[in-house]
Amino acid sequence: MSNRVIIFDTTLRDGEQSPGATMNQGEKIRLAQQLEILGVDVIEAGFPAASEGDFQAVQAIAATVKNVTVAGLCRALTSDIQRCHDAIKGANRPRIHTFLATSPLHMQHKLNKSPEQVLEMIEKAVSFASSLTPDVEFSCEDASRSERPFLAVAVEKAIAAGATTINIPDTVGYAQPQEFYELIKFLLETVPNASKAIFSVHCHNDLGLAAANTLAALSAGARQAEVTLCGIGERAGNASIEEVSMALKTRGCYYNLETGIKSEQIYPSSRLLSMIIGQPIPPYKPIIGGNAFAHESGIHQAGVLKCAETYEIMTPQSVGRAGNEMVLGKHSGRNAVKARLDELGFTLTDEQVNEVTDAVKELADKKKNIFSEDVEALVLEKIYRMPDKYRFKHLSVLSGNMAMPPTAALSIEVDGEERKLAAFGVGPIDAVFNTISQLTGRNPVLKQYAVNAVTGGTDAQGEVTVRLEEGGHKSVGRSSDSDVIVASAKAFINALNRLAKKEEERECAKL
Ligand code: KIV
Ligand code: ZN
Repeated sequence: MSNRVIIFDTTLRDGEQSPGATMNQGEKIRLAQQLEILGVDVIEAGFPAASEGDFQAVQAIAATVKNVTVAGLCRALTSDIQRCHDAIKGANRPRIHTFLATSPLHMQHKLNKSPEQVLEMIEKAVSFASSLTPDVEFSCEDASRSERPFLAVAVEKAIAAGATTINIPDTVGYAQPQEFYELIKFLLETVPNASKAIFSVHCHNDLGLAAANTLAALSAGARQAEVTLCGIGERAGNASIEEVSMALKTRGCYYNLETGIKSEQIYPSSRLLSMIIGQPIPPYKPIIGGNAFAHESGIHQAGVLKCAETYEIMTPQSVGRAGNEMVLGKHSGRNAVKARLDELGFTLTDEQVNEVTDAVKELADKKKNIFSEDVEALVLEKIYRMPDKYRFKHLSVLSGNMAMPPTAALSIEVDGEERKLAAFGVGPIDAVFNTISQLTGRNPVLKQYAVNAVTGGTDAQGEVTVRLEEGGHKSVGRSSDSDVIVASAKAFINALNRLAKKEEERECAKL
């Protein structure tokens, strides 16, 4: 058995299903390019039958990345499988990933199907998928709560019908490491045609065991790990790419397994994701969190100074954390900006580099030191924005503890037409949001508002995230600026643009 583990990244599919992690097409493409640089083997780009937007994003990713397999997820239905194939067929290496639940609970309550009907559906779906492409993955949803003998039959039928990868998900994060190890061993030893497929695992983190279960399954003989950046995913998330790949690397002698992950790209990749979805990385997160390499106690500090290995099992450099070095300033030219963009892994056109250089210079007028994080925030702000219905233009705010209520005067563009208004609020942010709501004729409810400093220092850029809900539809908006009130206005407008985009997609789907 080979010791090479296939890393299947599902940040753009399972990860994107997690609340608040919605990405637009440009952001998905940028992330897919970074995943390719990171060295994943398979990118699950989305669920093409879910919406027109998903279909287009999967198709665009399939056309963009070159050295990685592009998978699309689909239910075990002919129409879904066909739609999935239409979306991924432009990829150099396309994969159809189809799934059906095999646990008694799901078969009875969700699918309302007998075990025999489920087996028939598996055979039909996998045969159809493999008539379209040779690379077919079949997932037994809720495998860890399925009855073992039935699971073994389902797997055997899927392989006989043409599945080349069999995925055993711990869909609800219920499994325990030893138990999951035994399940994989059981399948590998019991299913008669097991050697014809690669076994994969997909573990959720409901009990905090996703990485442990994934590693246990790899020890038992699974050779594909389904993971996400920062562990994002449904509910408590999925096994994280950084934990699984760094466990395999740091404990290489224990596992004797290899991946194609370029570990120095782990931190830049997770930062990019964090910026795109507007959620900061928690400080205590292993490997990528702010505290992961911070040594607070005197005893630890003294030990690390004498010999880093006393308290560090891996180096910060090995995961791409070179430190928060100052990179650019007022006098930095285009070449310096381009060099920093290259180091950060951004591949931009000449025109885009010029745009970022102008933005860096503009920011350097307001802020003395420009850090990598500032550059990343500017790239996201200037380059990876979707074409917007609403565009922020100018803002002036009056606030304080005088008799006048806080007032915001704003000008924005709606479909290219300029609109201006001033309105009040209980505070400056409330005034800004009220004014924007009136200018756009929308009535969203603000569910969450968070502001985070991109770097240290009182002149740091503020990164604002807002979550809105309107008519049962949710969206998240994010923006950064050296003025937090301006960042708030832009984040609010960004969330409205996402709501408008989703409306457009729903309209398209009706046609
Ligand atoms: O958690 C799960 O079971 C899934 C499958 C569709 C692979 O996401
Ligand atoms: Zn999942």
